Amino acid sequence: MSNTRTAFVTGGAGFIGLHVVEQLLERDWNVRIFDNMWRGDRDRANELAKTGKVDVVDQDVRSGGAVAAAMKGSTHVIHLAADSINKSVADTYSSLDVNVVGSHNVYSAAVDQGVQRVVYASSASVYGDPKKLPMHEDDELNPLTPYCIGKRTGEDLLRYYERKAGLSWIALRFFNVYGPGQKTTAYYTSVINHFVNRLRNGEPPVIDGKGEQSMDFIHVKDIARAVVLATESEKANAAINVGTGIDTSVADLARILIDAIGADVEPQFNPRDVLVSRRAADTRRAKEMIGFEYSIDVRDGMTDLIRFEHERAAV
Ligand SMILES: NC(=O)c1ccc[n+]([C@@H]2O[C@H](COP(=O)([O-])OP(=O)(O)OC[C@H]3O[C@@H](n4cnc5c(N)ncnc54)[C@H](O)[C@@H]3O)[C@@H](O)[C@H]2O)c1
Repeated sequence: MSNTRTAFVTGGAGFIGLHVVEQLLERDWNVRIFDNMWRGDRDRANELAKTGKVDVVDQDVRSGGAVAAAMKGSTHVIHLAADSINKSVADTYSSLDVNVVGSHNVYSAAVDQGVQRVVYASSASVYGDPKKLPMHEDDELNPLTPYCIGKRTGEDLLRYYERKAGLSWIALRFFNVYGPGQKTTAYYTSVINHFVNRLRNGEPPVIDGKGEQSMDFIHVKDIARAVVLATESEKANAAINVGTGIDTSVADLARILIDAIGADVEPQFNPRDVLVSRRAADTRRAKEMIGFEYSIDVRDGMTDLIRFEHERAAV
């Protein structure tokens, strides 16, 4: 394998970014992490730099000049930096500034420097509340918050630069990502943390309604593998779902976590009307275009996560 490939990874010190960088290193890539460390793990990024294959640039995607200067010499771009979904309603300006202006800075630098591929972290939230499952890439998009609007615009800007300048891109619509290294404030997956905290205190998970609302939980190692496949793929210029295709209800999740922790409790149901939203990816395009299929089942992934958290707490 050639070792002249350099991936410029924005947000490379974040939860998903660090897993991506580790998998790129396993495949002999050189990596430049570009991250303002707002939510990044600087220590882990610096540790990876000791391999001699990783540079770390502590800069902001909102600065077009900094992006262009740091991207020099890169052959591929993986754009993961984003303002979090939690912040987007409270600070719309910042959300659009990072997620739209920042993405534009990354793409225009990529065009100017003639990189071979841009892979963009989009989100299943661009669909809004789906009318049917599984959610297919050609379904209507109905982004509901500034974060989701920014993600959709990030995709539209890729299409614009494909038409204008022949940019080669893939936008990956991540479903509900979980796994080691995730922040406890993660928006959609905070339910995992909430249940685990209660179980560790000997309390049962409390579920609103019947717990029918569901998510498509996908392990961060599978997400990182999809990112690397998209970066190396010969096919391009499409939005692709990255999920398992399985909708796990909140009630199922509670039982999976009870088993993983080995707690002797039953979930409690809090009878009230809840808006039941459900999510599951149509996974066919991911398989056809980039050869991706998930490998970590939600039960195994959650059990590993509990073991990881337990070992970390014991250190
Ligand atoms: N985690 C999920 O469930 C999920 C689901 C769908 C999409 N995504 C997308 O995947 C990407 C990575 O998500 P994550 O969960 O690893 O989030 P994260 O917050 O852990 O990582 C984002 C990284 O980007 C950096 N960053 C933020 N603003 C920046 C800026 N202005 N300039 C430079 N760096 C900046 C942060 O410091 C952080 O290291 C994001 O684009 C996110 O929207 C995540």
